[in-house]
Amino acid sequence: MINDLWYKNAIIYCLHVGTYMDANGDGVGDFQGLLRRLDYLHGLGVTAIWLMPFQTSPNRDDGYDVADYYNVDPRYGTLGDFVEFTHGARQRGIRVLIDLVVNHTSNEHAWFKEARKDPQSKYRDWYIWSKKKPPNANKGMVFPGVQKTTWTYDSVAKEYYFHRFYDFQPDLNTSNPLVQAEILKIMGFWIQLGVSGFRMDAVPFVIGTKGAKVKTPHEQYDMLRTFREFLQWREGDAIILAEANVLPDTDMHYFGDDGERMQMMFNFQVNQHLFYALASSDTRPLIKSLRATKPRPATAQWGLFLRNHDELDLGRLTDKERQVVFDAFGPDKDMQLYDRGIRRRLAPMLAGDRRRIELAYSLMFTLPGTPVIRYGDELGMGDDLKLPERNCARTPMQWSNEPHGGFTKSDKPIMPVISHGPYGYEHTNAAIQRRHDESMLNWTERVIRMRKEVPEIGWGDFEILRLRDPAILAIRYDWRNNSVVILHNLDANAREITFDVGLENEGGRVLINLLSEDHSEAQSNGKHKLVIEGYGYRWYRAGGLDYLLRRSEA
Ligand code: BGC
Repeated sequence: MINDLWYKNAIIYCLHVGTYMDANGDGVGDFQGLLRRLDYLHGLGVTAIWLMPFQTSPNRDDGYDVADYYNVDPRYGTLGDFVEFTHGARQRGIRVLIDLVVNHTSNEHAWFKEARKDPQSKYRDWYIWSKKKPPNANKGMVFPGVQKTTWTYDSVAKEYYFHRFYDFQPDLNTSNPLVQAEILKIMGFWIQLGVSGFRMDAVPFVIGTKGAKVKTPHEQYDMLRTFREFLQWREGDAIILAEANVLPDTDMHYFGDDGERMQMMFNFQVNQHLFYALASSDTRPLIKSLRATKPRPATAQWGLFLRNHDELDLGRLTDKERQVVFDAFGPDKDMQLYDRGIRRRLAPMLAGDRRRIELAYSLMFTLPGTPVIRYGDELGMGDDLKLPERNCARTPMQWSNEPHGGFTKSDKPIMPVISHGPYGYEHTNAAIQRRHDESMLNWTERVIRMRKEVPEIGWGDFEILRLRDPAILAIRYDWRNNSVVILHNLDANAREITFDVGLENEGGRVLINLLSEDHSEAQSNGKHKLVIEGYGYRWYRAGGLDYLLRRSEA
């Protein structure tokens, strides 16, 4: 039933149409602007674009409050523009994934308006109601500190309605078969318009039981199979990438034992421990989370990311570990959010230190999974902490040193473009970086190219090599008699390391450095010994016997 496993080795790039490129000069990014930037994305080497919500919305949660699932918000263009865009992407071999936000709607959605005004309406049961305020109304908020409750009184309905997120995002009653049928219809609609799948928002909440009597929601995993099956009946190679920040022992429930549920999930477990490793130079908890998330069906894949459009959620770390990350990357209260995370962009978190930024990216590109880049990170864009909550890391793309970074000709951009200081558009922009060989942009392009030439990472099995030094992470991937060995030094100081590649016969004797001329040959005891600089990384292909022979002939 699976036609193509393209997602196992894709390079995904996430962006918001509204902050990417404004073509009509009204201050808001649009599909026509994005269409003009497709060659930039193609040149960078991305193979899939994940579009954040662009459907009609009052935009009180950056589009994650949808008021019409079957339309493009007029600020971004029309359905016609959308199809022009998917067509343009397809011409360049780029797939399009879109957000599917069906845990809740906007309170301005026609379904909710009908539901609240008429108890007899067929839409009443599309939402979750209670005559009395449920006792757990002050529990389970996703945005603690900003969101006060999960049940709000509606004066028109004269009942309370449930909302896992903000009060303007009433939860859909996803157990209702009519709601499920509508979700399928929404998927079918966008598939028909050329998308290759969905980043499904808030999946544990979509499948969790909901209601005034529900103390601990239980997951209705079968729903995932229903979504997946429908999708593949319509379009064999379409996928769902699930946003599910869950513990590793439930991963297989999301993927399905035979891979019959979600094709992809974001690896939140690895993400949080990766940041801990970057903050502490201690890779042991990261190694533990890599092992814990190793089991997955052959057709499934992890989405690997550093920062996304939300806060860096550190809720799965121990209090001590979380504090280490806060101290290193977000020490001020103003940099933290929802009692669990950091709201900054990657570059400022790493103090703009190019070595550390490369290290972080090199890790993201080589850990088991498919890398997901956030727009602007390829330039090392910064954040604007004056903006509220998560908006600080959602500022417009910086294209050039023209006013407003070339994002818009309007004087009123939808969000202020970052200006002045080290991350200002005057210095940090695509046009300047294009011209400098050593820029972050050109580095990212080169590394993406190399990542594509190392399919072992997406397809292969991995093994963590034994090393005594906790600052070093050494992984070997094996696929079809090919092996690659990837090393990272998470410490600021250079390290001398000795390691065994662990391959039989001559396989691991020569390691060919894929990013420089600095190859490695095993010593007579079969082990490699090398010095790796502070925050250094090495991508090697094992088994370069031809190289040895050529050298002895020369
Ligand atoms: C998205 C958030 C959004 C929330 C509500 C999340 O999981 O990533 O940006 O606010 O869902 O839809």
